[in-house]
Amino acid sequence: MNLELKVNGEQWVLDVAAADVLLDVLREQVGTKSPKVGCERGDCGSCTILMDGRSVRSCLVLAVEAEGHDIVTVEGISYEGMSQLQDLFISNNSFQCGFCAPGIVLSATELLELNPNPSRHDVQEALAGNLCRCTGYEPIIDAVLAAGQGQGETP
Ligand code: FES
Ligand code: FES
Repeated sequence: MNLELKVNGEQWVLDVAAADVLLDVLREQVGTKSPKVGCERGDCGSCTILMDGRSVRSCLVLAVEAEGHDIVTVEGISYEGMSQLQDLFISNNSFQCGFCAPGIVLSATELLELNPNPSRHDVQEALAGNLCRCTGYEPIIDAVLAAGQGQGETP
């Protein structure tokens, strides 16, 4: 069946099966490799994308459910160089292997759009669904707080 959707500003018409998962279609048909295949059951957040501006786990979405929707992956927010948030992740040494990074970048991007000055607790809650096995989370949270200028931070 046909699937029409927008990915990173580009309109696509794809041929998908009813049971195809959006994560697989994005990686294999569209060629966006930043959403990572992790647990494939909604636990790890490595497959996180933005759908109409809200973070979703693409391993839990059927491709046909994305009909008419606007999908953004990390490739889509990096066309003109990295965002300030991405720069801060680098300067804070937030990631090591980087497997979790695309999902965390998008979850944090969503948070900062909804709440430009989050508190540490806000960041912890927003990233609770994104697992990282490498860094212990503090440098990740510090980068997001710095992007929000830390104005929501409590002493
Ligand atoms: S791969 Fe989707 S949440 Fe883990
Ligand atoms: S940097 Fe390795 S899983 Fe997060």
